[in-house]
Amino acid sequence: MPLHIPNTAPFTGAQKQWLKGYLDALNCALNPSSGATTTAVVAPPAGQPVTILWGSQTGNSEALGKKLSKALAAKGHRPTLRDMADISPADLNSIGNLLIITSTYGDGEPPDNAAALYAALHAADAPALPQLNFAVLALGDSNYAEFCKCGRDFHTRLSALGAKPLLPLIESDVDYDAPFAKFTKELELALSA
Ligand SMILES: Cc1cc2nc3c(=O)[nH]c(=O)nc-3n(C[C@H](O)[C@H](O)[C@H](O)COP(=O)(O)O)c2cc1C
Repeated sequence: MPLHIPNTAPFTGAQKQWLKGYLDALNCALNPSSGATTTAVVAPPAGQPVTILWGSQTGNSEALGKKLSKALAAKGHRPTLRDMADISPADLNSIGNLLIITSTYGDGEPPDNAAALYAALHAADAPALPQLNFAVLALGDSNYAEFCKCGRDFHTRLSALGAKPLLPLIESDVDYDAPFAKFTKELELALSA
């Protein structure tokens, strides 16, 4: 009896297509006289390239960036982790999927390594970013009047420049474990969609 994929198998359409091609080839090899035709075996869906940018004064966002990079790589994606100071707005349209993790400092200010990108994106001549998908995790402390302002501003400004949010902004208070877990889980879903 030829091998087939049960209707209830928990695969996406692309995964089913790949498996069907594989099973057709296998059925043909196992039973050449069956008349089974082979379908070209298409490559399985590849993971997404993502760039994770961290804006951090005392290391929390940078550490979460590393954790996120590992989590997404474990799901088959291709993350690149970068210091926000090393990116300009002109780089963003070739990135595809941008994930920002940033804190807020001073009195609602960006951390030092995020200040240049923050200013360039908020300048009048900032480029339109229609090719960009993005998500922002904003770290902060609700004892401050300008709670999570830097992350919120990045989210608002990227949207205004035409970039598409992969998910709504996630804001985090000082205990960031649960918001980080939510950000990671929602990203995994969004990037596999
Ligand atoms: C001097 C100082 C100023 C801060 N200002 C703000 C602020 O204006 N708004 C806010 O939400 N959080 C503020 N925070 C909290 C930080 O954003 C929070 O501790 C964050 O987790 C730090 O992450 P980081 O290590 O990646 O910079 C401030 C913290 C310090 C020490």
